[in-house]
Amino acid sequence: MQKKLQEIHNQAVAEIAAVQTEDELKQVQVRFLGKKGEMTSLLRGMGQLPPEERPLVGGLANQLRDELTNLFTAREEELRSTARRKAMADEQVDVTLPGKPPMIGHLHPLTLIMDEIAEIFLGMGFTIKEGPEIETEYYNFEALNIPREHPAREMQDSFYIRPEVLLRTHTSPVQIRTMEELAPQVPVRIIAPGKVYRRDDDATHSPMFHQVEGLVIDRDISLSDLKGTLLLFARQMFGPKQQVRLRPSFFPFTEPSAEVDIACVICGGQGCRVCKDSGWIEILGSGMVHPRVLELSGYDPEEYTAYAFGMGVERVAMLKYGIGDLRMFFSNDIRMLRQFS
Ligand code: PHE
Repeated sequence: MQKKLQEIHNQAVAEIAAVQTEDELKQVQVRFLGKKGEMTSLLRGMGQLPPEERPLVGGLANQLRDELTNLFTAREEELRSTARRKAMADEQVDVTLPGKPPMIGHLHPLTLIMDEIAEIFLGMGFTIKEGPEIETEYYNFEALNIPREHPAREMQDSFYIRPEVLLRTHTSPVQIRTMEELAPQVPVRIIAPGKVYRRDDDATHSPMFHQVEGLVIDRDISLSDLKGTLLLFARQMFGPKQQVRLRPSFFPFTEPSAEVDIACVICGGQGCRVCKDSGWIEILGSGMVHPRVLELSGYDPEEYTAYAFGMGVERVAMLKYGIGDLRMFFSNDIRMLRQFS
């Protein structure tokens, strides 16, 4: 029996030393120490021994089992750290691989169009003015000769912050702020780009959108100056053959007033779905600044005349980029925006 124990010991030690993986080690462990393993069957054979020998052999067997258990644990640790070292050695870094480029952002298509519009007017001698998006009724309506009963003043069209204070519904209040600041200096030649707000939301209207206001004041400014300037703008923006059309219209702060259409960029004026078969698309409102508006803000209408316009930036962008739904600009769909990088 003792000899048998010695044999098991020697064999186990040899096999433990020989295994190369944790899996193999587990198999050896089961064979020696498992329920159906060598040690178990040996201990079962103890019944055949004379009773006086049993304590001695039992003690030796326990000792062997403990020893083997320790050997298995030690070997397992050893195999594990070897595997770890090997994995580290295999994990090579190729320092010649190109780096991962960081994602670089870019300007929003509306910002690009605003910049382009501004660039064209800067080239014609205009300078840029800005005004607040939160306005008083005075600048947004009153000084622009928009009477109290005018539909544009109604609550359903404007966002009021509190009585007499609202989000500007157009960039025209910047006309007033500019005149108050500069009067009676001439010439005045400014554009005012920025956000405006109205209670509207569909495929062609967003509650927030952008306008570029224009204002020119001098002696002898006439409607033909307005038309020439806008024609030049349209040709720089949409191509040298672009046509513009002035349609009589009404704004309380201009007289006469005109809405300006450009020949449909999509169909070239032939008529299509986008221009509703008219061949023309409206991009701005304009007119000769009303004498009362000039006077109220410090310019003598007997001495000076002025024209003004307010351009819809989203409209221009839709035409330039062939985009059919204005909400595309504001839905932040990265697939759409990436096309402008
Ligand atoms: N403010 C007008 C609008 O938003 C546009 C406009 C500006 C018209 C300047 C005439 C002169 O509709």
